[in-house]
Amino acid sequence: MKKNITLSRYLVEQQRVDGLIPAQLRLLIEVVARACKRISHSVNKGALGDVLGTAGSENVQGEVQKKLDIIANEVLIEANEWGGHLAAMASEEMDSIYLVPNRYPQGEYLLMFDPLDGSSNIDVNVSIGTIFSVLKKPEGHPGVTEDDFLQAGAQQVAAGYCVYGPQTTLVLTFGDGVAMFTLDREQGSFVLTQENVRIPEDTKEFAINMSNMRHWDEPVKRYVDECLAGVEGPRNKDFNMRWIASMVADVHRILTRGGVFMYPWDKREPNKPGKLRLMYEANPMSWLVEQAGGAATNGRERILDIQPTKLHERVSVVLGSKNEVERITRYHTEA
Ligand code: AHG
Ligand code: MN
Ligand code: MN
Repeated sequence: MKKNITLSRYLVEQQRVDGLIPAQLRLLIEVVARACKRISHSVNKGALGDVLGTAGSENVQGEVQKKLDIIANEVLIEANEWGGHLAAMASEEMDSIYLVPNRYPQGEYLLMFDPLDGSSNIDVNVSIGTIFSVLKKPEGHPGVTEDDFLQAGAQQVAAGYCVYGPQTTLVLTFGDGVAMFTLDREQGSFVLTQENVRIPEDTKEFAINMSNMRHWDEPVKRYVDECLAGVEGPRNKDFNMRWIASMVADVHRILTRGGVFMYPWDKREPNKPGKLRLMYEANPMSWLVEQAGGAATNGRERILDIQPTKLHERVSVVLGSKNEVERITRYHTEA
């Protein structure tokens, strides 16, 4: 790999040399990356920046908002609203879509984000992140409505996340593989540190919140029981378990060394299809995972094929190393 390729240079090359992305999309990703740098800065300040703790409000999904949920949301909106590359935005932290104000030019893209993923980890100094997904605004009518956002994940034109951990790492796909960039704080730039990210097809590591075990569906119980049985069980090997409770950090580990991540439907709230949100958590992560050779389903069908019916729709998630995801999906279809 060539040395010291900044994100800006990488994007210019994607646009100019490979013709893979239009200029407006390049600008969009530059702006999102700049916003992530600002969020990273706030995260790093922690108590010194008065960014810890709750904000005293709830989002549309009834979750208590942390100060950083709101700060990150505002940073992303402010950074993106004026550049002329977007038509509208949607976020976990906003009830409805956010139209680019009339005083700014309108672009052709729609941006969705989970501004701060892993909120329960903010105050305890554990990795958190930002997840984003980019769609094209459908043509043929002026203005933007929520319906314009309701496109299957397979329609995404760019997706990624930034993880704020021991390092700040930006991970991106335009549908031509996955690249990782590490924030160089001295240079102030994201620098390409891994190309052609590949997830091993097999793994001995699974991630699930085990405290929900009694609420799981039979196929999930079967899979985890078989992992726990180790060398003596039907899998003939010992498994390791990890659960960071920040999807960004769990997915980052899987992109780095393989593994399988599950947040399945469970009986706590039977009418909800799952906990995670389809449009700005599951879709971008599923596309990244597929682009790295992994797989992502809701237990039955490919996540990227699901036709969303509402902005904050939830979904069951099984993603990661291909052979494990196929096995868990088979357990569901057999049941
Ligand atoms: P968010 O902080 O954006 O609401 O997302 C948290 C999500 C996800 O990141 C993580 O995998 C999961 O919630 C953890 O849930 P549990 O606390 O139920 O384990
Ligand atoms: Mn989240
Ligand atoms: Mn969030």
